[in-house]
Amino acid sequence: MPKNKKTIYNLNEIAEERKSAIRLLYRQLFRYKKAFLAIIFFAIIYATGEALLPKIIEYAVNTNITSRDYSGLIKTSLILAAAALIAVIAKYFQSLITGRVSAKVLFNLREDVFTKLQSLPIEFFAENQSGDIIQRITENVSAIDRFLSQGLMRGLDLVFTLSATFFFMYYTNWQIALLSTVGVILVLIFLLIQGRFLQKQTKKSLNIEGNMSSFVAESFASHEVIVTYNQEKTWQSLFQKTNDHYYQSRAKIAQISGLADSFISLLSTVVVLATIIFSLNLYSQGQILSGSIILFYSYAYTVFRKMNGVSNIWQNVQDGIAAAGRIQEVLQLKSNILEISQPYNPPINKIKGEVEFKNLSFAYPNGETVLENLNFKIAPGKTVAIVGPTGAGKTTFVNLIARLYDPQEGGVFVDGVNVKNWQLDKLRSQIGYLTQDTFLFEDTIINNLRYNNPRVSETEATQTLNALASPQFIKSLPQGLKTKLEADGQNLSAGQRQIIALARIVLRKPKILILDEATSKIDTKSEKMIQKAMEKSTRGVTSFIVAHRLSTIFNADHILLIRDKSIIESGSHQELIKLKGEYYEMYSRFVE
Ligand SMILES: Nc1ncnc2c1ncn2[C@@H]1O[C@H](COP(=O)(O)OP(=O)(O)O)[C@@H](O)[C@H]1O
Ligand SMILES: [Mg+2]
Repeated sequence: MPKNKKTIYNLNEIAEERKSAIRLLYRQLFRYKKAFLAIIFFAIIYATGEALLPKIIEYAVNTNITSRDYSGLIKTSLILAAAALIAVIAKYFQSLITGRVSAKVLFNLREDVFTKLQSLPIEFFAENQSGDIIQRITENVSAIDRFLSQGLMRGLDLVFTLSATFFFMYYTNWQIALLSTVGVILVLIFLLIQGRFLQKQTKKSLNIEGNMSSFVAESFASHEVIVTYNQEKTWQSLFQKTNDHYYQSRAKIAQISGLADSFISLLSTVVVLATIIFSLNLYSQGQILSGSIILFYSYAYTVFRKMNGVSNIWQNVQDGIAAAGRIQEVLQLKSNILEISQPYNPPINKIKGEVEFKNLSFAYPNGETVLENLNFKIAPGKTVAIVGPTGAGKTTFVNLIARLYDPQEGGVFVDGVNVKNWQLDKLRSQIGYLTQDTFLFEDTIINNLRYNNPRVSETEATQTLNALASPQFIKSLPQGLKTKLEADGQNLSAGQRQIIALARIVLRKPKILILDEATSKIDTKSEKMIQKAMEKSTRGVTSFIVAHRLSTIFNADHILLIRDKSIIESGSHQELIKLKGEYYEMYSRFVE
């Protein structure tokens, strides 16, 4: 049998290239082209304004003060003030627009990742850890925030300020300008070398960060198991190990960055001192005027003050790209459950709920065949009980109806249409699905009942609960329908939760109902109540019940016995008893 074309859903097995990470950032920024151009425009104004200030002061000293032209000095001062003001205003707009653009980009990224998550198949959720994914939406997105505000924007600032400053320096005296140029080139070479080390460490530390989030999330989820097995110490030491790895990795990054900072500080002191000495020398030879000493000192100082931040900017850029890579890893995933271009989308009142399996074979990716060549058809409104040993493929069987997976051969047909050709939303809206692991939100009962179905009235909700359980049920809840559910449902019994979950399904009026071992986590006392509720909810609805309770099984219209990848017995209770096969044996064992 042909295997599923393998799609990788395990994020740890995917390594996005830097190129695609950069493309992601580029694509996001390109959406705000105008804003981005405005940012560049203001950055240029700011840089020019700032670089002009020393030039104006030079003019004031060399021309106004030397010739004792006080009215000229006042004029020059006013120009100085105006230039400074313009620079400040430009800076303000630059920050303002940058802030807005990055907020938008972050918003989009979070939304894109979340939307993608909703579209991914069940394999994705089985193969990845929630903590790691949460980290991608929170930490990694924040790293992109820093990339934009601390990396890219300050980077732009740096480029323009240096350009303007060097322009004026070379314009004034090329020999002194050369001194700073050499200094800047040395710094850049050093950073390039350092960047190689940094890049590797950054990627590594982000991965560890993801693992750490997963670990914490898992320890939350399995808290009871950890405590009852006395495993607190083990988990603690495991966490310590990961935390230690993380610490080592961050410490290495800090070490590399710190080294760069010290080197740049040292170099800048040397260059600034050399600039002062060199310009004093030129001054004593009469080649420049006294104002130019101030000019060069202040330019050299500006250049290296800005260069001091370079390693920080570079770090933020590296962090941002690595984070974008991790986000891109999620975004590039594609669901293998795709809709055809014009899917079957009948009006709801036309849907009958007939279900047929035709020559269906299914294997999990990388797994053995679970179901082989199944053929089975059930008329609308009938109830099917599915029995068989654990691992026989009962859950897989019912999951195929909601198209959680696609079979390799044959297909599931609902109302005669292959589920692959159904509009997925429409198909799933017609299927009610109750398993042993009920999920209810930390919200009131009524709001839980309104999930995906906001128009449910309190009367409707009450009637449904009364019909499924009994009028006693709502009375047994502390605040009736307004009772707020706690996390993990600690304030309700498993049975009560299951009734609420069932009512939520029934209120949606699905044409097909799937109950997969819905009572297996429930005590025998509430099992009866749920059993009754289940029976009521299956009336007139095509129902598939995976169950152990004999009464459920023999009340069904049809029974399927699944074992060894196949339906080995199929028929009504009476028919299967007459067959004297495996079902008969099972039944006899129960009634004894
Ligand atoms: N997500 C999965 N990936 C790979 N194999 C799976 C997956 N889910 C179930 N299986 C395997 O498929 C077989 C049938 O499982 P399942 O349908 O859950 O059986 P049942 O519900 O009858 O206990 C088992 O061998 C199980 O190990
Ligand atoms: Mg199962």
